[in-house]
Amino acid sequence: MNARFAPSGPLRGELRAPPDKSISHRAALVGAMAAGEVRVTGYLDAADTRSTLAAVRALGAEVDAGPDAIVIRGCGLRGARETPEPIDVGNAGTLMRLLPGWLAAQEGRSWTLDGDASIRRRPVDRVAEPLRLMGAEIEATDGRFPPFSVRGTRLRGIHYELPVASAQVKSCVLLAGLAADGATTVTEPAPSRDHTERMLTAAGVPVERHGRYVTVSSTEELALDAVHVPGDPSSAAFMAAAAVLVGGSRVTIRDVGVNWTRIGFLRILERMGAVVVGELEADDTSPVPAAEPVSDLEVAAGPLAGTVVEGDEVPLAIDELPLVGLLGCFAEGETIVRGAEELRVKESDRIATVVEALTALGGDAEATDDGFVVRGTGGLRGGTVHSHGDHRLAMLGAVAGLASREGVEVVDMDAADVSYPGFAADLRTLTAG
Ligand code: S3P
Repeated sequence: MNARFAPSGPLRGELRAPPDKSISHRAALVGAMAAGEVRVTGYLDAADTRSTLAAVRALGAEVDAGPDAIVIRGCGLRGARETPEPIDVGNAGTLMRLLPGWLAAQEGRSWTLDGDASIRRRPVDRVAEPLRLMGAEIEATDGRFPPFSVRGTRLRGIHYELPVASAQVKSCVLLAGLAADGATTVTEPAPSRDHTERMLTAAGVPVERHGRYVTVSSTEELALDAVHVPGDPSSAAFMAAAAVLVGGSRVTIRDVGVNWTRIGFLRILERMGAVVVGELEADDTSPVPAAEPVSDLEVAAGPLAGTVVEGDEVPLAIDELPLVGLLGCFAEGETIVRGAEELRVKESDRIATVVEALTALGGDAEATDDGFVVRGTGGLRGGTVHSHGDHRLAMLGAVAGLASREGVEVVDMDAADVSYPGFAADLRTLTAG
């Protein structure tokens, strides 16, 4: 379905961002791997995280979804059962890359994982390689794409140096390490989101972090009691960007997760000159905390200056980089994103699709091999944005519409349901406020 977003007056009021997608996936997976009962409050009810619940049910976990919480009775670290059909991960890259970590340790059992058209373009060799080094057998289409099969074996711990900073790959190896012989260490080239490490710590696993090294040891069982999923900073980012871009806006977003590995975008916003008030977590928490910090955020519109995003900052803002491009159209001077070639293998090729969208709306944006350069032109005219089935592109188009001179038509706005089903309604609440 297409949707039109007209130029808007100031956004006012408050809202709650939807629950965190990354933490919800992990709650379902770690809950399914645990031995007892896990109560999860605030689980995200969206297409991606429904795929994860369906997957863990098929693997033998019991999931009771009640009005206040979902309760998961897991099948244990080594107790996943074979499924008669391939496991359908839908559009969920996180499910596709984390789940094999659990499955690879199930001796003598095998599975096939598949998903939608976008998933079939996303590489799985990045998880196949370390899992093979641990002893698992993985066969992927053309050596690197879904559908792919995982045959579980007795795994051995490894020390794996991640070639790219990817929380999905790090998490996959750490989950596999739980049931492997000996210790498993992952080294990251730069810090990425650490929700898996925190949740495993909460589940009683000794997780050691020294700089860029993370180590887990062979574990008998996981004991996770309860998980509360905070608001998703990546979803909140769209509301924050709208508030920053539409003159006179002031918005409060309640209960947002402010784990330091997720708030790169808020730091970039501040650097560009926006007003952001909240209790953000300080960098590099050590030892690994079990808790996920939460804060209300207040965001207000203001004049913006261009900025450069590169290096260690990229993984901390990876899903929000499209918004940095949008903000750049409204900022004074140039906004440059570098070292972000990972954007090419997201739900769409986000270097190409962001540049296409901004250019179609009258912006001055140029793709580079590893990012983009946007020159501020005082705003955007408006026009049509194709989501390409990418939830973050759909929401970017909507925010651009509110801040544009003539409005934006978003083709396939339904893509937003992957992470933020109430997105358009929430925007309307703020624009009516
Ligand atoms: C995620 C990690 C990131 C991110 C994705 C969610 C996760 O992907 O882009 O939306 O939950 O671990 P990569 O690990 O591929 O960087």
